[in-house]
Amino acid sequence: MELGTVGCEDETPNTQIFYFVATKESEVKRGLFVQTKTKEGLLVGRIEEIIKTNRYFMQPETISNYETAINLHFPTDKWEFLLCKIYCLGILDGAVRKANYPVSPGEIVKIAEDKNLEKLFKFDKQGLKIGNLSGHNLEVKLNLNRLFQKHIAILALSGAGKSYATAVLIEELLNRKDTQGKAGVLIIDPHGEYSSFAYDENFSQNASLIKGKDIRIGLPHLPNYYYNLFLPNLSFVQERDLIKIVGELKKSEDVFGIKEIMQKIEESENIKQATKDVLLSNLYSLNSVRLFGYYDTPSIDSLIIPGQASILDISEITSEKKKQMIVAYFLRELFNKRVKRKIPPFIAFIEEAHNFAPERSSKKNFSKGIVEKIAREGRKFNGLLCLISQRPVHLSTTSLSQCNTHMYLRITNPYDLKHIGESSEGLTSELLKSITSLEVGEAVLVGEASSFPLFVKIREKIVGDIETNKSLEEECISYLEKKENRKKDAKDLMEQ
Ligand SMILES: Nc1ncnc2c1ncn2[C@@H]1O[C@H](COP(=O)(O)OP(=O)(O)OP(=O)(O)O)[C@@H](O)[C@H]1O
Ligand SMILES: [Mg+2]
Repeated sequence: MELGTVGCEDETPNTQIFYFVATKESEVKRGLFVQTKTKEGLLVGRIEEIIKTNRYFMQPETISNYETAINLHFPTDKWEFLLCKIYCLGILDGAVRKANYPVSPGEIVKIAEDKNLEKLFKFDKQGLKIGNLSGHNLEVKLNLNRLFQKHIAILALSGAGKSYATAVLIEELLNRKDTQGKAGVLIIDPHGEYSSFAYDENFSQNASLIKGKDIRIGLPHLPNYYYNLFLPNLSFVQERDLIKIVGELKKSEDVFGIKEIMQKIEESENIKQATKDVLLSNLYSLNSVRLFGYYDTPSIDSLIIPGQASILDISEITSEKKKQMIVAYFLRELFNKRVKRKIPPFIAFIEEAHNFAPERSSKKNFSKGIVEKIAREGRKFNGLLCLISQRPVHLSTTSLSQCNTHMYLRITNPYDLKHIGESSEGLTSELLKSITSLEVGEAVLVGEASSFPLFVKIREKIVGDIETNKSLEEECISYLEKKENRKKDAKDLMEQ
């Protein structure tokens, strides 16, 4: 479809930018891909900006002379036209290469053909179908290896569609055939949004849901490292005495919990009373977290199974400390097992990643260390992360900089925009501007997964909707209904 004709404007056409005047009928849109002929071959570019212009209104004096009656004297509407600014992506010549010569003025600009776009973006027929290329009727199929060549970050403001896009990605991972290669999926779910995978008839076979209240860290096999991590206020001597007691218990008992450690400390004749007091008060507060038990639930080995998702639903846990401990423990143990190739390759999706790996934090954050470690070293072992956050400014820069594919949905906060502009090489100032005006469910993919910034309309997800998305009205009504039902149940019980 012809869109318009190349014109001369603002020192263009040059090898990077050209403008074309759109025909009246053409439906040009920012982000649309176009093609035109040059003497080097077929040039493909993207509409970066659309400018409306009308020479009747170029001179302020003319407008002033005729005031609001200008269109009674001249056919002004006939002189209005659209000027499209094109950013040249390259010449399609087998591979894509940079243009050495500009397009000629007068050349016809057409909408880019699908087969050329497939070549440009190196889409993979076997890839993850996350949606359609915005403005085009072309399925975006991302190659798994390129998408997870390293880690991914999905960033946007609240309500822009991060969790929706993440659910689509997870659906694609779970629907892969054995011959296409399947990774295990772990979902850290602080809002209980992904539990629908476990209830949906299309996915329940491939998803297991672990509720926060059932999660336990087994003490008898807990490596000493965690005593140092979870009890950061202990001195060297206090920690040494604690580890000694735990070591003795490990030798003599098959199972033991915090209470047994406390009892052994109280009975010990080798530990000073002052040390005992500190250890007991620290262990008392660790016990109050209600996370430690005789064995791991879920077991580390059961968490990662090829083509299966394990959802850690920590939505009903209010303690930030407890949530971080869960993430710290399970991620570290998974990473260690993956390094030894004892579990299959995995992708860990971490919602609200800024809470688990914050850039700055006033209190000790238990999970930041392991998230950063996997971000730095995980790729070598195919232990991969997908970090999801609505506040990129607050997300650890060490982790963010290791994500070499970024998916942006709508972001408007200027601090976040500045931050992502600095942390993502492929983002031009025009692209940053487009991020502010994306619609819900529309994403820009930048980085390794796509040769060029890719505007995607995320497809509809298959998995059923999640209860947490109730409106305020619905939530208030259902709260009252539940309260009434509880009252009625209690009354019925009394009358029995
Ligand atoms: N691709 C899409 N297609 C259709 N609807 C969508 C799409 N993306 C998002 N939505 C709608 O927008 C709502 C908000 O999306 P979502 O929950 O994914 O936002 P979010 O970015 O995760 O927000 P938060 O930061 O609050 O978690 C969804 O409930 C859904 O109704
Ligand atoms: Mg969300």
